[in-house]
Amino acid sequence: MSVLRAAPVACGHYLPERVVENDEFTKTLDTSDEWIQARSGIKRRRFAAPHQKTSDLAAEAARDALAKAGMEASELDAIVLATATPDQTFPSTATRVQHEIGMKGGFAFDVAAVCAGFMYALSTANALIVTGQAKTVMVIGAETFSRIMDWSDRGTCVLFGDGAGALILTAEEGAGDKTDRGVLSVKLHSDGAYNNLLYVDGGPSTTQTAGFLRMEGRKVFQHAVTKLAEVAHEALDEIGAGSEEVDWLVPHQANSRIIESTAKKTGLPMEKVVMTVAEHGNTSAASIPLALSEWHARGLVKRGDLLLMEAIGGGLAWGAAAMRW
Ligand code: UT7
Repeated sequence: MSVLRAAPVACGHYLPERVVENDEFTKTLDTSDEWIQARSGIKRRRFAAPHQKTSDLAAEAARDALAKAGMEASELDAIVLATATPDQTFPSTATRVQHEIGMKGGFAFDVAAVCAGFMYALSTANALIVTGQAKTVMVIGAETFSRIMDWSDRGTCVLFGDGAGALILTAEEGAGDKTDRGVLSVKLHSDGAYNNLLYVDGGPSTTQTAGFLRMEGRKVFQHAVTKLAEVAHEALDEIGAGSEEVDWLVPHQANSRIIESTAKKTGLPMEKVVMTVAEHGNTSAASIPLALSEWHARGLVKRGDLLLMEAIGGGLAWGAAAMRW
């Protein structure tokens, strides 16, 4: 049986120039490079320059993906952009990117699922393609979390970074089984009972300010290590694949200990795990496409590889996807 698949064409990414080492935080906070590395695996992260907005980072990643695909912006039917740090409350950051890259037609919108945002955006783009509403869609994850940090809170401000990643998907005919290229399964979950574990203490309809990120790190950690392994299994079960068939686990890059635990529970050796958390920190919705694009640029992700992606964040919201490159 022939089915429509959302198949990957190319990916791209952008990291702001400013590198911030762990040691920089020791000037103002009671923390250390040793603690940050031991508890999170993070060595450094990038922060956007004052003039750079989330849309600027996203547009750079979008241009990189288009260049790698050998495509023009006019060939895109839609942009689905995941962010929790939009330029403004509205218009959507996606429409700014649409304009910045010179995409005249089609449509663009944002998706909000914080660190799980890329999974939600991928799911949305996949649905647009398989239902025939769009042929070619750019999925972007872009964040400037440095703008919502409380610099006096050592439990959060050392963990996050800025960046953007983009993935172009296009409709392709497939056989309808796990050998097809493209998005093979996406599993999403959320549970608003956990809103208070990870949130921003502001917003237009509450404080009329953007607010700062607040997190009960230990509790989020506990949810992450159980929920990510469960949803990763769901995504593989859906397509009848075993973990031994996975070429790369591309996890949300929040904490190396969470990544190692999920890999173990999913039955994947660390040689098959994409790890960029040491260099990028937690870039929320940008982390998966950033990691994927870096690995692809290094020649490590090849046509036909089965990728398993997973993420969890504020909401709580979490999800996983299986996609053949
Ligand atoms: O992307 C969205 C999803 N987010 C996540 O996945 C993050 C999940 N959580 C985590 O990654 C970890 O929980 C953290 C890295 C945030 C923290 O690691 P932890 O092992 O859970 O540490 P903890 O929060 O239990 O804190 C241990 C100690 C505390 O001191 P006491 O209470 O034991 O005296 C903290 O006050 O470490 C202290 N601490 C720090 N010490 C030095 C917290 N932050 C720091 C710091 N430097 N930056």
